[in-house]
Amino acid sequence: MSTPHIEALDGQIAKTVLMPGDPLRAKFIADNFLENVVKFNNVRNVFGYTGTYKGKTISVMASGMGMPSIGIYSYELYKFYDVENIIRIGSCGAYDAELKLYDVLLADAAWSESSYALTQNGEKASTLYPSKDLNEKLMVIAKDLDIPVTSGTIHSSDVFYRENFAQFSDIRDQHGCIAVEMESFALFHNANILGKNAACLLTVSDNLVTAEVTSATERQNAFTKMMDIALGMAE
Ligand code: HPA
Repeated sequence: MSTPHIEALDGQIAKTVLMPGDPLRAKFIADNFLENVVKFNNVRNVFGYTGTYKGKTISVMASGMGMPSIGIYSYELYKFYDVENIIRIGSCGAYDAELKLYDVLLADAAWSESSYALTQNGEKASTLYPSKDLNEKLMVIAKDLDIPVTSGTIHSSDVFYRENFAQFSDIRDQHGCIAVEMESFALFHNANILGKNAACLLTVSDNLVTAEVTSATERQNAFTKMMDIALGMAE
């Protein structure tokens, strides 16, 4: 059965889905890391694939950018395709000068000024949490792979281009956020309301304090540490 945004047939999507923002990153993962790949979604070029990693099954599908977009895709995957676990694998801007480009972060909370949860079901909390169980598993995999991971609260923002750029330091200081991205709050909310599991792994693509940045090409190809950890969730 298809949904308005996903044309996969029943059974084509694995219990665990990795979600990069960018459809080309989903394709990159399928092309370079998975075997026995079946493409299950082409709608709007938001590509989705199921394949095997070291003999175990996993899916990867793009979320698009921002909370309205990941809100649609994660809801449909959880509710209509029986997906149990969604692990966002995205990029973020670091709010801390000590975080270096390509460092891997794991969200242990998402703070947001977004109205996504309030609009969706009246949820008033501005901090939402990922699955403890998924986070613990991801940390074990990272340790086994010898990849350092920093966990902390992530600012999940609705706005990339703020008129008052310096505002980020107030958000950082008031809410204890170590980095900013634009999707995890909506993903965590959907997992909570539907009784499912979500986690968010991030790679630092820019640092708002030091103004270091990666190029778009580097961003598409160089996030392999994060992908290695997330792919370890195949089952
Ligand atoms: N802001 C929001 N989202 C991001 C950023 C940023 O600076 N960098 C990567 N994702």
